Amino acid sequence: MSETHDLILKGGTVVLPGRTVKADVAARNGRVSAIGALVDAKAERVIDCAGLHVLPGVIDSQVHFREPGLEHKEDLDSGTRAAILGGVTAIFEMPNTTPATDNEAALEDKLARAAAKAWCDHAFFLGASSENAEQLGAWERRDGCAGVKIFMGSSTGSLLVDQDEAIRRVLAGGFRRVAVHCEDEARLKERKSMVADGAPVSMHPEWRDVETAVKATRRLIALARETGRKVHVLHITTAEEMEILREARDVATVEVTPQHLTLAAPECYEGLGSFAQMNPPIRDARHRAGLWWGLEQGIADVIGSDHAPHTLKEKSQDYPKSPSGMPGVQTLVPVMLNHVSAGKLSLERFVDMTSAGPARVYDIAGKGRIAAGYDADFTVVDLGAEKKITNDWIASKCGWTPFHGLTVRGWPMMTIIRGRMVMRDGEVLGKPQGKPVRFHPLPPGV
Ligand code: DOR
Repeated sequence: MSETHDLILKGGTVVLPGRTVKADVAARNGRVSAIGALVDAKAERVIDCAGLHVLPGVIDSQVHFREPGLEHKEDLDSGTRAAILGGVTAIFEMPNTTPATDNEAALEDKLARAAAKAWCDHAFFLGASSENAEQLGAWERRDGCAGVKIFMGSSTGSLLVDQDEAIRRVLAGGFRRVAVHCEDEARLKERKSMVADGAPVSMHPEWRDVETAVKATRRLIALARETGRKVHVLHITTAEEMEILREARDVATVEVTPQHLTLAAPECYEGLGSFAQMNPPIRDARHRAGLWWGLEQGIADVIGSDHAPHTLKEKSQDYPKSPSGMPGVQTLVPVMLNHVSAGKLSLERFVDMTSAGPARVYDIAGKGRIAAGYDADFTVVDLGAEKKITNDWIASKCGWTPFHGLTVRGWPMMTIIRGRMVMRDGEVLGKPQGKPVRFHPLPPGV
């Protein structure tokens, strides 16, 4: 059939649901309009993708972009610019800004800011608290809301829901899957004295130990079952939690991060010092192997970057004054493609965890696969390109990456969002036109 499209990606190897084939992909009005050998098709713009892989747009479902309040670390312009430079087409942003996104007006404010300056598509989490537990169920229905986030343990910012009674109220009051940071606050407090001034940063995973994570994850699963609410356990760091979560597929989905899959203690603390400090912590090689096991077994559903930028100056402070978190939205794709090229996971599994996975976990509408009628979001990569990740490539305001100096094989060459090329060969194109991510409608009256 001879049809006219806005854009055709010609001659690439395309990762479709269930098969990877040489094909052309066309887009019209921001949506995928045709897939196949589009011999007679016409388009305003045809892009030669020979030698490249065309993936569904990568969705990074955990980033901290710091606006409002902490814009010296990051803002919605710099964070989303970093995203598209790294091949990411949509982000879900966490609520621990200043003030926190813990009410409807704060959510509206973030959406208005993003409408003016986001380079990629976006949704925002609402932060749960004991005070807003009863209102979250109504607010999470708002367009552009990714759902509710619970911090069971204190991390950056003031958000915290540590008591079972309050967690139960948050879980009982809504419908969508709740994203949870699982560290047990009581145990963190009990053990805090281990890391008084002068303690080395290598103590970070001793203070925030395996039991701290395991205890919170077990509590969460029990509360999710009790209330009948789905949960998504963020940034798993222990082999033990993977085994626990294998038995919790009825209520829980699972996220892993590139940092926890790539770095390990003690080397990361010897090499990077407090720049390797994050919550929950990077642990030893046994746990890293446990995370890869969870990925291979299909227990892990999603890879999120947990992009959590702090400035060089802030991170250079002595532990434990140094803040926790590392940037990652721009390095997620190259770091994970490097694992693909090393044979640690298949390209299809990468796509499963960065496109289909977030779509399934969060019930995203019209994104997550290359299929007719879906948004024309593509991450076009060169699996053969060898490049060095360096701090000067990083667009985040923080200006550094824990992967500085790492040579990777596999690189994002183009980022295309709803049929518009926004990044090609390392150059940001056009102007910010990111839109709120759409979700499937919720049943009425829940
Ligand atoms: O290391 C972390 N940094 N973990 C979190 O949970 C929050 C994040 C941040 O926002 O800095």
